[in-house]
Amino acid sequence: MEVLNYSERSLEKLPVTIFEDAQTGAVHIAREIAAIIRKKQESGETAVLGLATGSSPINVYRELVRMHRNENLSFRNVVTFNLDEYYPMQPDALQSYVYFMNEHLFNHVDIKPENIHIPDGTLPIEKVKDFCDQYEKRIDSFGGIDVQVLGIGRTGHIGFNEPGSGLNSLTRLVKLDPLTIADATKDFIKEEYVPLRAITMGVGTIMKARKIYLMAWGEAKAKILQKTVEGKISDEVPASFLQEHPDVSVVVDKWASLELARIRTPWLVGLCNWDKQLIRRAVIWLSLKLNKPILKLTDEDYKEAGLVDLLVQAGTAYQLNIQVFNSIQNTITGWPGGKPTSDDKNRPERALPAVKRSLIFSPHPDDDVISMGGTLLRLVDQGHDVHVAYQTSGNIAVFDDDARRYADFFLDFSKKYGLKDSQISQLHSDLVSFLKGKKLGQEDTPVVQNIKALIRKGEATAACRFCGVKEQNIHFMNMPFYETGQVKKKPLGEADIQVVANLLQEIKPHQIFAAGDLRDPHGTHKVCLDAIFAALERLKGEEWTKDCYVWLYRGAWQEWEVEEIEMAVPISPEELMRKRQAIFKHQSQKDSPVFPGNDKREFWQRAEERNRTTAELYDQLGLTEYEAIEAFVRYRF
Ligand code: F6R
Repeated sequence: MEVLNYSERSLEKLPVTIFEDAQTGAVHIAREIAAIIRKKQESGETAVLGLATGSSPINVYRELVRMHRNENLSFRNVVTFNLDEYYPMQPDALQSYVYFMNEHLFNHVDIKPENIHIPDGTLPIEKVKDFCDQYEKRIDSFGGIDVQVLGIGRTGHIGFNEPGSGLNSLTRLVKLDPLTIADATKDFIKEEYVPLRAITMGVGTIMKARKIYLMAWGEAKAKILQKTVEGKISDEVPASFLQEHPDVSVVVDKWASLELARIRTPWLVGLCNWDKQLIRRAVIWLSLKLNKPILKLTDEDYKEAGLVDLLVQAGTAYQLNIQVFNSIQNTITGWPGGKPTSDDKNRPERALPAVKRSLIFSPHPDDDVISMGGTLLRLVDQGHDVHVAYQTSGNIAVFDDDARRYADFFLDFSKKYGLKDSQISQLHSDLVSFLKGKKLGQEDTPVVQNIKALIRKGEATAACRFCGVKEQNIHFMNMPFYETGQVKKKPLGEADIQVVANLLQEIKPHQIFAAGDLRDPHGTHKVCLDAIFAALERLKGEEWTKDCYVWLYRGAWQEWEVEEIEMAVPISPEELMRKRQAIFKHQSQKDSPVFPGNDKREFWQRAEERNRTTAELYDQLGLTEYEAIEAFVRYRF
């Protein structure tokens, strides 16, 4: 089902369909592909598919596999050409696109092996050019690609056609952009292991396909999608060349659509239904755009910025300014657990009970202090019964040499106190020999996984102790979906939901804090949040849930938009320092963590910058100036 069907699309130069979530969008694409395969089958023809890898098409392939199993969708008449492959790359490497395609599609359907084509990452360099020419010819020999599936990289690449790739480029060896290399690091563990080059179909090869589906899921793609769809055609954003193709469908979820004008600034595109939320967004937008505090905005400012419609429907600048200013002012509270002796009519949290049971869910063992360390400290300082629940062990984010260091320590410690026995030495030598022979991305042995989990457990406990959380209030949930020993996780299961439900029933919290990364369709945070939502849904009838507020904080990477914030907790300079020290307890994640994402700064630096930016934005809007602010949005279940 398509949502958000706006009629005004004047800024969009490609047809975009926005789906409620990535899964529904993927099913839509899979059905279209299946229809083409079936149609070709009926007329005894071959269906030629151009395929992509990466996280974007995974659900499309899953749906195709499901249709093969349950709806007799056959791939006997299908020929496939994959867009690209890293170079150099062995097909059996976990990171190869051959491995990916087998795992997600080919091993589960009845495609003939000889009909599969993937660029060859094993060729000696002198043979690559010839191979690329042959790849083009081979595509042509099947009459060209009927339907091409594309993801989009944050550089705007399609295939591995990075910025600078021309409209007529064909299959060739290319250099990867540094941003693409950073994004690929999650699969290769370390940036230095990501190949610097790839073989990719060209933009010209892609443009020859008769039908193209470009998909984008999650907020991380929102900016580049906007440029692709609304920007001018340019080789700086190779995906923008698609504007010249006669039959492209852009399929996105609502998070990837966030930067499109019709979503971000609908007032610039057409008439709007002005509800409270939209008014708030428009006024904040205007204030930040003009760099003028809200209370100083004039009728003239509104008119000149194209907001006449708002003035006509919702009142004068004076009324709008006061209304929005007050609503933002009411988000600010130094009492995240409620202020016991105050009127709470306009406060984010209830005054009573004066002492609340506050349950903070932390997807990884350090998200609590990184994302809401200041608030956590305040809750403890203000006498609330604070519990912290670490949802996953976080073990894959510990370096091998740290595991080795702790194993050595344990062995030496055991010897020193005469605890030496053959089992300890055996464990130690098994671990050492495993780590010495470990292949890139290989799953750790259970012992190594456990050591890594214990390292993170110790760090989280130290951080809690530093913040004053009682030992008996620290919970390690070890949600099973995470325990694969690899970056790739299992889907959320019943056992995961049950551990969360059990803890909720045990604590019966008055308030819950959770990582609200609703906008990232793949990550661990989203799975952890889904488990909380599912557990709450299940427990909805219980008395305590009627008096329980759920607050969402954003993960380590992003912050809420100002217009979304419902509780803003100011952090003083001293508190910010204490928060920093709490983050420092996570030594395995300090300096340069295993998964730094695409930001080279340490977690405490990112957190501080983010909290300071929120404070600056409040200041810019004309509210009180604070050192830093932690922000929350309320989830009503
Ligand atoms: C993959 C490919 C790339 C990806 C793009 C998005 O075959 O050619 O263009 O589609 O990098 O990657 P994900 O989907 O992982 O965000």
